[in-house]
Amino acid sequence: MMKEKLQSIREKALAQINSSDSLEKLNEIRVAYLGKKGELTEVLKGMKDVAAEERPVVGQLVNDTRTAIEEMLEATRNKMAKKMREVQMEREVIDVTLPAKKNLIGHSHPNTVALETVENIFVGMGYEVVEGPEVEYDYYNFEALNIPANHPAKDEQDTFYINSEILLRTQTSSTQIHEMEKGRLPIRMIAPGRVYRSDEVDATHSPCFHQVEGLVVDKNITFADLKGTLAEFARELFGPETKVKFRPHHFPFTEPSAEMDVTCFKCGGKGCRMCKGSGWIEILGCGMVHPNVLRKCNIDPEEYTGFAFGVGLERIALLKYEIDDMRLLYENDARFLKQF
Ligand code: DAH
Repeated sequence: MMKEKLQSIREKALAQINSSDSLEKLNEIRVAYLGKKGELTEVLKGMKDVAAEERPVVGQLVNDTRTAIEEMLEATRNKMAKKMREVQMEREVIDVTLPAKKNLIGHSHPNTVALETVENIFVGMGYEVVEGPEVEYDYYNFEALNIPANHPAKDEQDTFYINSEILLRTQTSSTQIHEMEKGRLPIRMIAPGRVYRSDEVDATHSPCFHQVEGLVVDKNITFADLKGTLAEFARELFGPETKVKFRPHHFPFTEPSAEMDVTCFKCGGKGCRMCKGSGWIEILGCGMVHPNVLRKCNIDPEEYTGFAFGVGLERIALLKYEIDDMRLLYENDARFLKQF
């Protein structure tokens, strides 16, 4: 009885394995015969009803059946896997004659190029490049820079406040204070970085842009040093023919203060679309460090003087590349950026 049963299980299982066409199917068969509730396992459970003297023989038969099914499953599984690999290899044939994918190598952003140019000019003149925090105390951004509490720049319409004492810096001029507070004189530094203002985005405004601050503090620094330095900067940036002009202006942290214009590098000063017909282009603010600012940093204005300047980095990039919309610098459109 048992013998015939086992024989028929074996034949049925092998036939099913033979005609199976997937790994899932094979697994189903394994479970159906050898699993916890599988047919063969059920037979094993019935062993207790077999006469004691026949048990070893029947037991051996059950084991043989089990081994036969397992071996067949294993062999069929290997055959299928091999077949699948072959099919896959065939499908993934590599055509080595196809042209290779072009390696797209990026390059520096116009802002980065402008920054490196400015840095190189000042490093060449012996300046150190430093950085200051973008999240800043009101004290460093305004108060220490001699900017009074009622100054319009302090309005919430103009400045992003974190709380009443902390804000996103509106100008890199705050780095002047950090540098002077270190108590190491003389100072010859530039400080590039991001600044933030509550401005709507348009062709010439962005709530986040970049400035490069400059500061020199030493004994006997005069307005002549400021003019000579910034004129040299303009010539290195826009070419040796460039002339500069200083217009009186007002900044709370410098006295006297000025804005510097350069002769239009497009028309050489004759007047064109670039300079709106005037022949001049404004590029930075500057001045002699206000005695109040020096005093706030424990520097004696009777002994030390200094000059400072601030350049808009985007402005330099836009001018140098003749880009007429600031938004293009931030949109990361590869079609635009790859032109530079
Ligand atoms: N911080 C000024 C601004 O954001 C720019 C500036 C003007 C910086 C004159 C200076 C300076 O250091 O001396 O408009």
